[in-house]
Amino acid sequence: MRSKPPVDKAHPDLTIGPDGHAVLAANPGLIIAAAIIDHQRVPPARVTPGRTVEYGMYLANIAGCTHCHGPSLKGGLQLGAPGTPPSTDLTSTGPMAQWTEAQFAMAVQGGVRPEGTGINPFMPWKDYRFMTADEVGAIFDYIRAQH
Ligand code: HEC
Repeated sequence: MRSKPPVDKAHPDLTIGPDGHAVLAANPGLIIAAAIIDHQRVPPARVTPGRTVEYGMYLANIAGCTHCHGPSLKGGLQLGAPGTPPSTDLTSTGPMAQWTEAQFAMAVQGGVRPEGTGINPFMPWKDYRFMTADEVGAIFDYIRAQH
């Protein structure tokens, strides 16, 4: 945003239609997200990008791994539409305990397990294609360091 020049113009007043009023009445936090933010909360310290376990933990959180595979990455969460497989246990008790880093990268970024089976596209491997080798490696190191 800071790379763009500022714009000087008046914005129209905010108006909320009947649908908006109904949604707002049912759940104020849904629209006024700022109202539910904890403004006293201290922002997390900046994590230096690099091939570190610390950065891997940061990436596992912001890339959603912990959302779908659970905070401890033990899997078993069924978050998609009915029929979506539950998330896999990524720790030492799961199927990828013996995988190499290259096999992990192939699964996370190519959607294929070492034995050649495809991973359900609910697991957003298509988006993870754009991560760098160091980013995937940092996540791999984090998973191995934790469990
Ligand atoms: C939107 C939910 C979601 C997110 C986000 C997500 N996963 Fe998954 N992941 C899944 C599901 C569901 C499966 C099981 C797919 C299947 O069984 O075909 C899976 C499978 C996997 C597998 C394959 C393991 C196996 O043998 O089945 C790996 C590895 C994996 N995820 C790693 C990750 C990593 C690393 C991240 C973060 C960079 C991540 N996932 C983010 C839902 C997710």
